[in-house]
Amino acid sequence: MTNSPKLAVRGLTKRFNDLEALSHIDTEIAAGEFISIVGPSGCGKTTFLRIVAGLEQASSGEIRLDGRPITKPGSDRGFVFQQDNLLPWRTILANAMIGPEIGGFGDKARVQATRQLLKLVGLEGFENYYPKQLSGGMRQRVNLARALAVDPEILLMDEPFSALDAQTREIMQTELMRIWEEGRKTVLFVTHQIDEAVYLSDRVFVFARRPGRLQEVIEINLPRPRSLAIKRTPEFVALVERIWNLIEYEVRQSVLEEMS
Ligand SMILES: Nc1ncnc2c1ncn2[C@@H]1O[C@H](COP(=O)(O)OP(=O)(O)O)[C@@H](O)[C@H]1O
Ligand SMILES: [Mg+2]
Repeated sequence: MTNSPKLAVRGLTKRFNDLEALSHIDTEIAAGEFISIVGPSGCGKTTFLRIVAGLEQASSGEIRLDGRPITKPGSDRGFVFQQDNLLPWRTILANAMIGPEIGGFGDKARVQATRQLLKLVGLEGFENYYPKQLSGGMRQRVNLARALAVDPEILLMDEPFSALDAQTREIMQTELMRIWEEGRKTVLFVTHQIDEAVYLSDRVFVFARRPGRLQEVIEINLPRPRSLAIKRTPEFVALVERIWNLIEYEVRQSVLEEMS
């Protein structure tokens, strides 16, 4: 990488007692890159994101953001979880404003900016609704707007669409692409769906487990902007197949273990 990386990961290791959840991860991520992380359950995807978020400490090694070691959470990183965690007693706008409020930026200008974000994620007109009045897909959009509301450098997304039905999920994928094309945030996106990873990403990180580690990095050199139709091209299908072959054995093992 010629320019200095947005995120530099060096010898990152995380142990929980005698379990090595992450082992010696080394990588660099450029500003504006869209990275997906795939791998069998338990390979440390969430742990990796939590360390980047500053919610968890590394056992050894480090992660630098713009050259500075990450030690705690900060408004330079926005987090979107699998389940929306909206506060039911707050309106959509008030939910989206939580981040800025905590950061001490609850002023009028920021309220205006947050309204713009709600518009960006397709929720104009819903500012005064409550979470229970919205569908799952809409609530996940609020989550996304909320993460963007602190204007983070990096967006961390942990299986954000996994609770959605297949159609809503595809709509959310194209929406996320559109938003990313506009703002070009650096994104780390965890997913179980390989086609989702290929569709969205510049590179896909394939993690393996026991110990959790970065097994392989796959470049996705498909042209952008990408329409959903790209999912039916031979190039796309071949990439999905290649990644599946990398993790199939491991996924089988983890399913067998979960059943036993
Ligand atoms: N707070 C914790 N304490 C002990 N073990 C943990 C903790 N968090 C995660 N683990 C373990 O670390 C491994 C990786 O977990 P996780 O990062 O959640 O994997 P993934 O998100 O890929 O499914 C798993 O074996 C999990 O049980
Ligand atoms: Mg996880």
